[in-house]
Amino acid sequence: MGMSSTFVGVLVLVILIQAKGQPGFISIDCGAEPGVNYTEPSLDINYVSDANFINTGVRGIITSEEISTHTQRQLWKLRSFPEGKRNCYKISITRGSNYLIRTTFLYGNYDGRNMLPQFDLLLGANKWDTVTINNASIDEVYEIIHIPSLDFVQICLVNTGNGTPFITAIEFRTLKNDTYVTESVSLELYNYLRCDLGSNRGYRASDDYDRFWYTCDFEEDWTRLNASIPDDSFVDNDFKPGATIMSTAVTPANGSAPLVISWEPDDETAEFYVYMHFTELQVLTTNQTRQFNITMNGELWYDNLSPQYMSVSTIYSPPGGSGKEIKFSLERTENSTLPPFINAIEIFKVKHFHQSDTFQGDVDAITKIKSAYGVNRDWEGDPCAPAAYLWDGLNCSYHGIESPRITTLNLSSSGLHGKIAPSISNLTMLEMLDLSNNSLNGEIPDFLSQLQHLKILNLEKNNLSGLIPPALNKDSLLLRIDQNPYLCEADQCNKKKNKKHNSIATPIVASVGGVLILLVVVAAILWTTKRRKAKALKLKKDQSAISPQYTEQNDSSLQYQKQIYSYSDIITITNNFNTIVGKGGFGTVYLGYIEDTPVAVKMLSPSSVHGYQQFQAEVKLLMRVHHKNLTSLVGYCNEGTHKGLVYEYMANGNLQEHLSGNRSKRNFLSWEKRLRIAVDAASGLEYLQNGCKPPIFHRDVKSTNILLNEHLHAKLSDFGLSKVILTDGGTDVSTVIAGTPGYLDPEYYLTSRLTEKSDVYSFGVVLLEIITGEPVIVKNEEKSHISEWVRSKMAKGDIYDIVDSRLKGEFDSNSVWKAVEIATACVSPNPNRRPIISVVVSELKESLSLELAQTKDRSTDTSDSVKQVAMNLIIESLPHAR
Ligand SMILES: *[C@@H]1O[C@H](CO)[C@@H](O)[C@H](O)[C@H]1NC(C)=O
Ligand SMILES: *[C@@H]1O[C@H](CO)[C@@H](O)[C@H](O)[C@H]1NC(C)=O
Ligand SMILES: *[C@@H]1O[C@H](CO)[C@@H](O)[C@H](O)[C@H]1NC(C)=O
Ligand SMILES: *[C@@H]1O[C@H](CO)[C@@H](O)[C@H](O)[C@H]1NC(C)=O
Ligand SMILES: *[C@@H]1O[C@H](CO)[C@@H](O)[C@H](O)[C@H]1NC(C)=O
Ligand SMILES: *[C@@H]1O[C@H](CO)[C@@H](O)[C@H](O)[C@H]1NC(C)=O
Ligand SMILES: *[C@@H]1O[C@H](CO)[C@@H](O)[C@H](O)[C@H]1NC(C)=O
Ligand SMILES: *[C@@H]1O[C@H](CO)[C@@H](O)[C@H](O)[C@H]1NC(C)=O
Ligand SMILES: *[C@@H]1O[C@H](CO)[C@@H](O)[C@H](O)[C@H]1NC(C)=O
Ligand SMILES: *[C@@H]1O[C@H](CO)[C@@H](O)[C@H](O)[C@H]1NC(C)=O
Repeated sequence: MGMSSTFVGVLVLVILIQAKGQPGFISIDCGAEPGVNYTEPSLDINYVSDANFINTGVRGIITSEEISTHTQRQLWKLRSFPEGKRNCYKISITRGSNYLIRTTFLYGNYDGRNMLPQFDLLLGANKWDTVTINNASIDEVYEIIHIPSLDFVQICLVNTGNGTPFITAIEFRTLKNDTYVTESVSLELYNYLRCDLGSNRGYRASDDYDRFWYTCDFEEDWTRLNASIPDDSFVDNDFKPGATIMSTAVTPANGSAPLVISWEPDDETAEFYVYMHFTELQVLTTNQTRQFNITMNGELWYDNLSPQYMSVSTIYSPPGGSGKEIKFSLERTENSTLPPFINAIEIFKVKHFHQSDTFQGDVDAITKIKSAYGVNRDWEGDPCAPAAYLWDGLNCSYHGIESPRITTLNLSSSGLHGKIAPSISNLTMLEMLDLSNNSLNGEIPDFLSQLQHLKILNLEKNNLSGLIPPALNKDSLLLRIDQNPYLCEADQCNKKKNKKHNSIATPIVASVGGVLILLVVVAAILWTTKRRKAKALKLKKDQSAISPQYTEQNDSSLQYQKQIYSYSDIITITNNFNTIVGKGGFGTVYLGYIEDTPVAVKMLSPSSVHGYQQFQAEVKLLMRVHHKNLTSLVGYCNEGTHKGLVYEYMANGNLQEHLSGNRSKRNFLSWEKRLRIAVDAASGLEYLQNGCKPPIFHRDVKSTNILLNEHLHAKLSDFGLSKVILTDGGTDVSTVIAGTPGYLDPEYYLTSRLTEKSDVYSFGVVLLEIITGEPVIVKNEEKSHISEWVRSKMAKGDIYDIVDSRLKGEFDSNSVWKAVEIATACVSPNPNRRPIISVVVSELKESLSLELAQTKDRSTDTSDSVKQVAMNLIIESLPHAR
């Protein structure tokens, strides 16, 4: 046996005319004239043109020689796809029904080139097979049993660069629901192995689900059995192999030898489902028995089988396993007087179609959008899947076996006209919508604010008009609306009270803002005239142009990996909110203990809706970011109005307490410690900007948000105002102004345009606090801003006048000058003159090393070192090593 038993495919297909075409049949003659509807007489099956199922492709016809050898009309014409990578048929079917789906490919030298193509065949979101045409004259048939999950099926042909895809016929046959049942896999007929054993001709009949039965040659030494089965006495089962198929069988020529059916799969990991059909063809006498066991690869598969006369038994036991060789052996049992036999067998290869089709609501919506705008792109087949063929301009989220959802729609610069399509409202998982640089007109519809997951909305460069819906001004959304000449803000349009939720922040900012603007003007004059010899920092454009991407999970609920605490847990942890360690804008911070480890528990005040958004923002960010210079989240509580965040406890409070002297003198910060804290905080910021994709802007860098642990290592905290930023080549982002007066970038305040330099500005202010020990608004007569105060002192050139007097001169003046230069560059009114954060980090480290080198000898002449430092002040913006 062994090799000799391996299947050698030989197909002879002789057609027997059977009953009329049945309901549940869809028969498509690809390439037929539109409107054509005919009955193929040899089959008595109705075929229709494919024109209603596809808009692309070119109709073709096989050569007249080929027509003369292929009598069935549906094989004559075909549709080929010289254009586009993926072309798809969309065929309405009954969702959840079990279908036999068959595609036929007869090349027939239709293009006169005699080049046999190869291409991929997709079933919806999954690859079905690679179609290989081996012979121009032979029709290749790909057949699969599949339960569609949508109310349509897309059959796509993909050009893989090996010739133009084409297709000849598509057929759907509804099977009974309880046949060919699998554990959610699909079954592809393997190597044409649907075998009418013992027969000398193929068979196809519409009352047999229009299956193709082949004569399979297993090259075994078999004896053919052949009996006539009267239709009326025959008992079929749900698999309906039918009397014709069951009237022939094979039995081993050697009556005591087993009957062996084996094959060597092309892929050793392939799994098979095998269906065997049996009907006893002779009336057994009382002293006759026929009984046999079936083994698969030596293991018992089915025992003591005695097929019944004139009645079909179908034996299947999925899956039939895998391996180098699959070998079924039918062996007669001891008491059997007759040898084993078999009438028919079907062998299917398992297809794991893991990729679900895109969520139907999304498909419907994007299809409407496509036709509303007449989108002229290669948008064919499933929008999200296979991921390799994602529609241009879309991005999707994939969650295992769940349906993919559309998360990004980018129709920028696509020549769109008309209004913003209402169907966009049905793309409910959308995170980014980019309709910029089109000719869209009309108002910005309110429904955009109802897209709960939308984080980036870019409507720039259109002709939109009217009021910007106030609901779009939310913290969770980056809105870009520039260059729409007819758009107006709520308060500009009709003096309506702007209900921006940052109403808490705006008035404060506004009142301080006036002062700031003044300061900026004065500072600018001073800066240009009396500035120390330092040259402007040479700045490099942000080197990383990172495309937007979100790696976050679905954030509809705050179900994250971190520990979730109940409110009663929180009460236990905080010992009923016994010890207050701080008060923030949106709640109170308590000391707590989890198994003796101290933690900080920030409880959100229930009244603060604004706070809740910040809470969500903060949790989401903390989930994503991990860095030693950022406070880490231990867990959170989200029980009704009780919302709290549990952080690692920072034993030494915040930086400001130390600088202001409000904290016990125990931890007075030396210059070295201050520099280390500055390096830590800048590193945290650098991580947010450069280590996170997309970059994160903290937006609220200030000395109270820099926390110190027991070792006085600093960590940035309070991400409530942070923004995830879309950078497309270093552009900035307009957004609702938020932040703390005194730390707020004046440029950002004036223009509402947030850039990575806004955080650099705030950090510069912190650095000035670190150096001077002064509050942000210095308590002198003029109540100057600290940057202004430092600049005026710098003009006098006396470093001792600037540095915190409590340091009592214990510092290296080179180191301090360097820090002052960094800080003043950071608070430069012109954002372009501010260094990028990675430069700040490396310069601060240099300042720290100057200090460390000089700690032993404080007696160096300061005037010399001033000159020396001044020479080094042209700070190059070096590419940041990572
Ligand atoms: C094709 O013609 C047959 C018979 O006239 C009719 O029953 C069937 O509905 C038609 N099919 C289509 C798709 O028009
Ligand atoms: C098969 O199942 C589908 C979905 O459950 C149902 O719509 C259809 O009617 C069923 N077909 C048969 C023949 O039972
Ligand atoms: C293609 O198939 C036809 C018909 O079966 C056969 O006559 C011919 O030799 C085959 N051609 C090749 C190249 O194998
Ligand atoms: C059955 O046997 C008869 C005579 O031997 C033969 O004519 C007929 O074609 C056979 N039928 C099948 C289906 O093989
Ligand atoms: C028939 O099969 C049996 C069992 O496999 C074997 O022992 C015997 O030699 C075979 N007879 C012939 C004639 O091949
Ligand atoms: C079975 O019984 C019949 C008579 O009823 C007899 O002719 C035949 O030889 C017996 N066959 C066997 C295998 O015993
Ligand atoms: C058939 O299977 C039964 C177990 O159900 C076993 O006892 C018997 O030995 C088997 N016979 C053969 C020939 O393998
Ligand atoms: C085989 O036949 C013997 C004697 O007739 C009987 O005792 C035994 O149970 C039978 N074995 C099977 C598996 O039917
Ligand atoms: C959104 O989807 C619903 C339900 O599928 C549908 O009824 C509605 O017409 C769709 N809306 C738009 C604007 O397409
Ligand atoms: C789609 O999103 C994934 C992950 O969110 C990202 O890796 C990928 O680059 C994005 N693809 C496109 C084309 O934007």
